[in-house]
Amino acid sequence: MIYTVTLNPAVDYVISLDRLSAGQINRTQTEAVVFGGKGINVSLMLKALHTESTALGFVAGFTGEAIRAGVEAQGVYTEFIDLPSGFTRINVKIHAEEETEINGNGPDIPQAQLDAFLARLEQLGQGDTLVVSGSVPRTLPKNIYAQIASRTEGKGVRLIVDAAGALLQSVLPYHPFLVKPNRQELAALFGASAETDADVLHLAARLQEMGAQHVLVSMAGDGALLLTADGAVWKAPAAKGQIVNSVGAGDSMVGGFLAALEHGGSLAEALALGTAAGGATAFSVGIADHDKVMALHETVKKEVQKL
Ligand SMILES: Nc1ncnc2c1ncn2[C@@H]1O[C@H](COP(=O)(O)OP(=O)(O)OP(=O)(O)O)[C@@H](O)[C@H]1O
Ligand SMILES: [Mg+2]
Repeated sequence: MIYTVTLNPAVDYVISLDRLSAGQINRTQTEAVVFGGKGINVSLMLKALHTESTALGFVAGFTGEAIRAGVEAQGVYTEFIDLPSGFTRINVKIHAEEETEINGNGPDIPQAQLDAFLARLEQLGQGDTLVVSGSVPRTLPKNIYAQIASRTEGKGVRLIVDAAGALLQSVLPYHPFLVKPNRQELAALFGASAETDADVLHLAARLQEMGAQHVLVSMAGDGALLLTADGAVWKAPAAKGQIVNSVGAGDSMVGGFLAALEHGGSLAEALALGTAAGGATAFSVGIADHDKVMALHETVKKEVQKL
């Protein structure tokens, strides 16, 4: 089973209006509710690609109930842990002349619930995949990624990490199966340039020296580079299309990559499906659907090349 972790999910309240006037009563033109969180996004893309997964993490209150029900209604299994107080945050995304976001902090996570979560991870074993992505709520210990990674080490669990900075660095000693920084995250981690493919591959190799197995570097409109554990380099140019909203492109790429592996595909095939999935989401309002991914995959799979 593939498990995704969303430590601090959110109900996104996405509204649009012509003008936002501070200090006034404003009326929305459109409004939508989206269940947000990077791990949940990965699960939704996996589902779109006919691949089962279970979403893990913490929820609280009426918004937490809504997330659980909403994610399950979209065909993803959930094993969220209920928190005793507070409510899962609501993030307000305002599309007006400018884009304005107001993001909540999220509920407190007491030690008992954190322990229950970590104990659940200890049940994972051979054949399981664990995807850990995104930022850490301020109520959790800073070393939570390392704590998660240590629970799965040496058990045949494939650990996938999509995170930046110290979070990414902290899991490398546990030899994650795959890490997926984007170009900016890679450059920032080493305080170095990641402009050219040679720069990117040099820094990706440093991640391997620090413990990562495969390194997938996403480069938005420039596609992606994959440095495999055995030193092979694969490149995928980005899918072509009209950009709508690139939020979730990275999560979709991880979902597409894992869906291909789960169905017996090679790493190069995983790169192709991941690139198609990331592009499809960049060209969609939310996480892309199956047909949009597969349409782009037709072209992308012919363009993936070994460098
Ligand atoms: N404008 C685009 N055109 C085509 N493909 C895109 C575009 N943006 C993203 N993608 C595809 O999605 C993949 C992941 O995108 P990106 O590098 O922006 O990830 P990210 O910065 O981690 O995104 P996220 O906001 O989800 O964290 C890219 O490697 C590419 O294949
Ligand atoms: Mg990202």
